Amino acid sequence: MSSIEARDLTKRYGSFVALSNLNLKIEGAKCVGFLGPNGAGKTTTLKIFTDLIRASGGQALINGVDVHKEKKKALDPCGVLIETPEIYPSFTPREALSMIADLRGIPRADRTKRIEAVVSEVKMDEWMDKKVGKFSKGMKQRINIAAALLSDPEIVLLDEPTTGLDPRGQAEVRDIVRSLKQRNRLVFMSSHLLNEVSEICDEVAMIDHGKLLVYDTLAHVTDRFAHDGGESVVQVELVRDIDDQVIRGQISSLAGVGSVEKLNPRSLRIKFSGGQEEQARLLTDLVALKIGMLSYHPSASTLEDTYLNLIKDTL
Ligand SMILES: Nc1ncnc2c1ncn2[C@@H]1O[C@H](COP(=O)(O)OP(=O)(O)OP(=O)(O)O)[C@@H](O)[C@H]1O
Ligand SMILES: [Mg+2]
Repeated sequence: MSSIEARDLTKRYGSFVALSNLNLKIEGAKCVGFLGPNGAGKTTTLKIFTDLIRASGGQALINGVDVHKEKKKALDPCGVLIETPEIYPSFTPREALSMIADLRGIPRADRTKRIEAVVSEVKMDEWMDKKVGKFSKGMKQRINIAAALLSDPEIVLLDEPTTGLDPRGQAEVRDIVRSLKQRNRLVFMSSHLLNEVSEICDEVAMIDHGKLLVYDTLAHVTDRFAHDGGESVVQVELVRDIDDQVIRGQISSLAGVGSVEKLNPRSLRIKFSGGQEEQARLLTDLVALKIGMLSYHPSASTLEDTYLNLIKDTL
């Protein structure tokens, strides 16, 4: 099983402690969001994991192998995107990726096949032989992700893959990240965007001032910290517009439901009393109403509440 593990990981810059005895073990095929405010230590952690910088103390292990002691072996199963590199504008994705494949020592015989596979994975097939200079930021970022996937890594480390992109670019990259979970990959991704994390991640690790605040499943994190006075919030996306009458007459009267907010005709925020058990029951009840539910997840604002609460405590 894939794993990344920080053991008492510490990073000091002079007397400043950027990372303080971080202990975190992530195992299995899943997507983990790494959240924290500016300067929390996210990039520092990812850079130590990729041996771009050296820890002052502790160990970073990938599949049990120390990244500093055995860099090549440890990083072999990894694909990494940290600090978005600029692709030379007159290159096409095929050319840029060939060069990267060269640098990474991907065998010549596999190269064409791998390049086509990754370009297809980031849904850029049609652009394979067009010059990168004309691409939008989102398209360039997809090529950067393709580059990280060239060696078909089982572990993918991404530092804020959607930062700097407009909403459409963010959505495109989000889709790609979501699809990375297929093929049994472990994805560890830093982000500032709580809605992004709650949409695509299975688990969250929160960090502030170089200290880990929490690492748990998304459901547990929101459940454990966010429901104040026993109230929880889920967000529901629908395949078709919903009738106000259905909201008032049927959804509002389901067991435990406090209030229903229509964010737009195909998206609802439902406040209800209780935790996970009640959340599971509400899901069953909503399915029975046949309202065309596409997704059902703890609301981003629940994660936001949790996040703000936890961050506040460490000020
Ligand atoms: N080379 C350096 N010298 C001194 N301090 C540094 C250095 N690199 C990072 N730091 C400090 O370490 C802390 C953690 O930085 P890091 O880049 O890991 O934060 P981050 O969580 O990635 O933040 P952001 O969300 O802004 O990207 C910050 O306070 C930063 O100023
Ligand atoms: Mg950073």
